[in-house]
Amino acid sequence: MLWFLVLISINISLIFTENRTNSIKSVTDIQWNLFKSGYQKAYIAPREEARRRFIWETNMRFINRHNQEAENGRHKYFLAMNRYGDLTPREFRKKMNGLKTRRLFDLDSYSKKILSGLSERMLKIGPKNNTIDWRTKGYVTPVKDQGMCGSCWAFSANAALEGQIFKKNGKLVDLSEQNLVDCSKNDENMGCNGGYMESAYKYIINNDGIESTQTYPYEGKDAQCRFKSDRVGAKMSNIVRLPSGNETALTEAVENIGPIAVAMDASRLSFQFYSTGIYHDPHCSPVNLNHGVTVVGYGSQGKGLDYYIVKNSWGETWGDKGYVLMARNMNNNCASTYGYGLGYPYGLYNHAATAPLAYPYAGLGFAGLNAHGLW
Ligand SMILES: *[C@@H]1O[C@H](CO)[C@@H](O)[C@H](O)[C@H]1NC(C)=O
Ligand SMILES: *[C@@H]1O[C@H](CO)[C@@H](O)[C@H](O)[C@H]1NC(C)=O
Ligand SMILES: *[C@@H]1O[C@H](CO)[C@@H](O)[C@H](O)[C@H]1NC(C)=O
Repeated sequence: MLWFLVLISINISLIFTENRTNSIKSVTDIQWNLFKSGYQKAYIAPREEARRRFIWETNMRFINRHNQEAENGRHKYFLAMNRYGDLTPREFRKKMNGLKTRRLFDLDSYSKKILSGLSERMLKIGPKNNTIDWRTKGYVTPVKDQGMCGSCWAFSANAALEGQIFKKNGKLVDLSEQNLVDCSKNDENMGCNGGYMESAYKYIINNDGIESTQTYPYEGKDAQCRFKSDRVGAKMSNIVRLPSGNETALTEAVENIGPIAVAMDASRLSFQFYSTGIYHDPHCSPVNLNHGVTVVGYGSQGKGLDYYIVKNSWGETWGDKGYVLMARNMNNNCASTYGYGLGYPYGLYNHAATAPLAYPYAGLGFAGLNAHGLW
């Protein structure tokens, strides 16, 4: 509390122009130095450092104000400073992505027949679990880190496929995002400049497999395709697009299929610094989807407090150990991704009957995007 009051009392214009001798400034100095050393920030020019510090202080004030409001009950989630603290939201988006509009990839040839099959299958399954957490069942690999590369789409796609491979085989294989970044450029993906989960799946299907990170490790930058078919770690045969903006359908798919890839609006400052609690930002866009993530479960903390458990790809230092709880049954809130966001989710589907023997085929369920590149 004291910290908060101290911070807001700083007059930013003083910081770079006056001698820093008073105790208020030195508190900020200490925090700034902790931030720099904690996240290994090195600024070459003093001017650059001054600019970064100004942004960091602005972000700090935003975080502190939000948390104050959260303590007063206005929000159900808290924020925290993290390694993105010296970036403005605009820079953050730019670094993580190259947003481009595009026509939605036509999945019909893959999904039409499956979709009807899926609905029947889902309806036959009994009453819903109030809580699903596929992490506790071994379906989910540790949180990964896309770095400063707009490759969220690869992480989102792989997380859902990893779940299906585990479901089919009982073996968790960490699939290669770099394989997708480097090799799926003929499938409408743009490597570190953005891409689409369904295009990643299209690549894996047409390529007859994807390598694991063991044979094709992550680099976080665009490189030459080095895929080798004798090192394939997983194959899949199909994907299903879930109905758009239907949280019931998403929830059922998460329960009956497993982790589902979805698209969301991650452009808000509140998301950049999300820490714990149930994320809900009324300013989020349900249409302007720009980030691919994976729903790995759902639950509720009481009335009006339903959530999805969402795996992000910004490392374990972001959010709640790399995860975010996103509001569920709140009209597809922003994030909500789910909502429209849920945009056009896809369901993974298991085609065991048609699978060759050598590799596990998995279908996947993943959710979808609309007209924008995801990062
Ligand atoms: C700034 O503070 C230091 C001591 O902390 C002092 O030596 C120096 O003269 C001050 N400079 C100005 C411009 O006030
Ligand atoms: C479904 O609910 C039961 C009882 O709460 C729980 O033990 C089980 O782990 C849940 N299933 C999943 C997949 O989380
Ligand atoms: C949403 O999905 C559920 C389950 O799949 C379905 O019963 C319901 O009719 C759908 N709602 C809308 C508005 O399409």
